Amino acid sequence: MADSFVFRPSENIAALKESATIAVSQRAKALKAEGREIIDLGAGEPDFDTPAPIRAAAAAAVEQGATRYTAVEGILPLREAIAADANRAYRGPDRVTPAEVVVSNGSKQSLYNACVALFGPGDEVLVPTPSWTSYYEMVGLARATAVEVHGDPARGFKVDPARLAAHATPRTRGLMLNSPSNPTGGVYAPNELRAILDLAADRGWWVISDEIYVRISYDAPAPGALDVATRRDNLVVVNGVAKAYAMTGWRIGWTISPAPLAKAMNAFQSHTTSNAATVSQHAALAALTLGAPVEAEVQSMVAEFRKRRDAALPILRGAGLTVLEPAGAFYFYIKAPGTGADAGAAFCTALLEREGVAIVPGSAFRTPDWVRVSYAAAESQVVEACRRIARVAADIGVG
Ligand SMILES: Cc1ncc(COP(=O)(O)O)c(C=O)c1O
Repeated sequence: MADSFVFRPSENIAALKESATIAVSQRAKALKAEGREIIDLGAGEPDFDTPAPIRAAAAAAVEQGATRYTAVEGILPLREAIAADANRAYRGPDRVTPAEVVVSNGSKQSLYNACVALFGPGDEVLVPTPSWTSYYEMVGLARATAVEVHGDPARGFKVDPARLAAHATPRTRGLMLNSPSNPTGGVYAPNELRAILDLAADRGWWVISDEIYVRISYDAPAPGALDVATRRDNLVVVNGVAKAYAMTGWRIGWTISPAPLAKAMNAFQSHTTSNAATVSQHAALAALTLGAPVEAEVQSMVAEFRKRRDAALPILRGAGLTVLEPAGAFYFYIKAPGTGADAGAAFCTALLEREGVAIVPGSAFRTPDWVRVSYAAAESQVVEACRRIARVAADIGVG
């Protein structure tokens, strides 16, 4: 009999890294618990309450008995609403049906379902870089290889077909897309998106299009893949209610994909989590179907994000920092002042220790000489934090 057990990570998670965005938030919380005043611009979480009509609909649903398991793939009215929404964007003859929708516990689970169902050992998946930290880990958890395709900072890090093609091999099976982007705030124009979808179709690649920020766009509406796609038999659209409706805690996301893939993801989810929380599905249904009262709140949240962006950007740029102008989502991506292989992490540490501001090092997004600042916080906090960022940058020396 063994004397004691020592945990050794299995092959499945041997290479797994903790989510750096969550790690920074935890460090900030620990400092707060010690009594330090911290401005936390690490997390990508809207600071607004879920709109009241959605909360009321959820409460009513619970009173009416929405307390039991549902179908693994989610309640039909929600999947119908998601399909109807998709069909407003997609003009092809193959209309989106509810059978092609799988509702999950947040778009994070939807993305993971898709990665596991589509990719496996020996497969390569192109990941435009910088990208949200979890793509690399999810592809790895599927035992496939994430291939970083670095965008050009001068183009806001956006990639194009030539750049993607240059990283392709016969093992390439798919591609992650995210517009508007976390962490850059970049938004692909319709023609840019279409060109990438065309390349993927030509090469036989799957496209996983993460559109969680698609409603948060400051200029023209950000196009989703279904707005420009001429076919969708290689397309998985991922979305959810977390960001646009300030519903992070409700944990509802979904995939729209061809039916056989939806069936496979559904089978996978049936053995991992089953259905997403029933009350949350009813809340999401309200978000998508209540219309004017909810839409007005979404618009006012987006307007507020824009106000914060416009108030803070001149402070950062005035300090001589290189900042990408976000056209969507709610992040500033900033070239870290200072030099060295991990200038971003050094800057984040200095900022947290000296000025009590938590932001995320670019290493989380595979660009270690950048940092990400979330402006999903009160304007006064965002502005104050940016002044502090400017101070530390001036100390370290910009440029
Ligand atoms: C690009 C991106 N995709 C997906 C998610 C996950 O969202 P959800 O709360 O729906 O799981 C996030 C959250 O930060 C994100 O930034």
